[in-house]
Amino acid sequence: KSFLYKLWKGDVSSKMLNPRLQKAMKDYLSTNKHGVRFKGKRNSKLTGDQLFCELKERVNVKTIDGKEAPFSTLGWEKHVPQIPLGKLYTHGFGSCAVVMSAGAILNSSLGDEIDSHDAVLRFNSAPTHGYEKDVGNKTTMRIINSQILTNPNHHFVDSSLYKDVILVAWDPAPYSANLNVWYKKPDYNLFTPYVQHRRKNPNQPFYILHPKFIWQLWDIIQENTKEKIQPNPPSSGFIGILIMMSMCNEVHVYEYIPSVRQTDLCHYHELYYDAACTLGAYHPLLYEKLLVQRMNKGLQDDLYRKGKVILPGFKSVKC
Ligand code: C5P
Repeated sequence: KSFLYKLWKGDVSSKMLNPRLQKAMKDYLSTNKHGVRFKGKRNSKLTGDQLFCELKERVNVKTIDGKEAPFSTLGWEKHVPQIPLGKLYTHGFGSCAVVMSAGAILNSSLGDEIDSHDAVLRFNSAPTHGYEKDVGNKTTMRIINSQILTNPNHHFVDSSLYKDVILVAWDPAPYSANLNVWYKKPDYNLFTPYVQHRRKNPNQPFYILHPKFIWQLWDIIQENTKEKIQPNPPSSGFIGILIMMSMCNEVHVYEYIPSVRQTDLCHYHELYYDAACTLGAYHPLLYEKLLVQRMNKGLQDDLYRKGKVILPGFKSVKC
């Protein structure tokens, strides 16, 4: 049976990846750049429903609110939006789409279906213009990593991609989630462009994720995986899925678990090929995907043909 078929069934291990990706994973394990010291137990054998309830109970979408040092001393309470992310939409959203940037979404004709959702989440610099037929054109929220704010190639200040949407930024912090250490030495310095953007666009909801939230997700991935996962933050895709599970009644995730269109084309909007984009090298992406596959409530046929997984929102299921 093919790797893709096994992924659809949730029956893969890193040993089935190509040697280059296995080597990259090993190297990240030995480097442990973020000082991860996992204190939990691996390989807890939860069912999909139990895993969902574990996430619902433990996951707390937390953003920098300016109340903790060093942000409190730096006057960040007046830099961050007055309304917290979780209170932006008091009743939350009905059905939501999470659109992954994978090359496999090309030629999917999923655009209309994606736009029919109440809210649509996209990532980083993924465009809609010119790709509407496959990815739709509605964007409610964008999750951006710190490189988007700091790399001039992305034109964060002027690009229309980052206007009229809720922005949620993040940066890999130390596992200790020590905000003083992180502030002094972020992976990419997102703090300065963040404050500048907030000053210029005070009415745009724009948040920075709290490192505690990101590493809490990592802990849960490791607890539910037999193998040692890469000691690096989960991908923006996984972070986004969890944010939408806490804001929506139902979450439709497109091309995270690849469809029959699976390809090494990294992004639908870029001519760059690397299997690591879909299966992970830096991020524990393969393991994230196995957890999402375990919780899938959608039809197998939608998974094969659309690369679609359906997850309930946290408030839709009693645990
Ligand atoms: O590459 P980027 O992080 O901008 O893509 C957004 C998210 O889409 C990733 O974090 C990952 O979760 C998902 N993705 C994927 N397969 C790809 C490309 C992206 O699953 N080939």
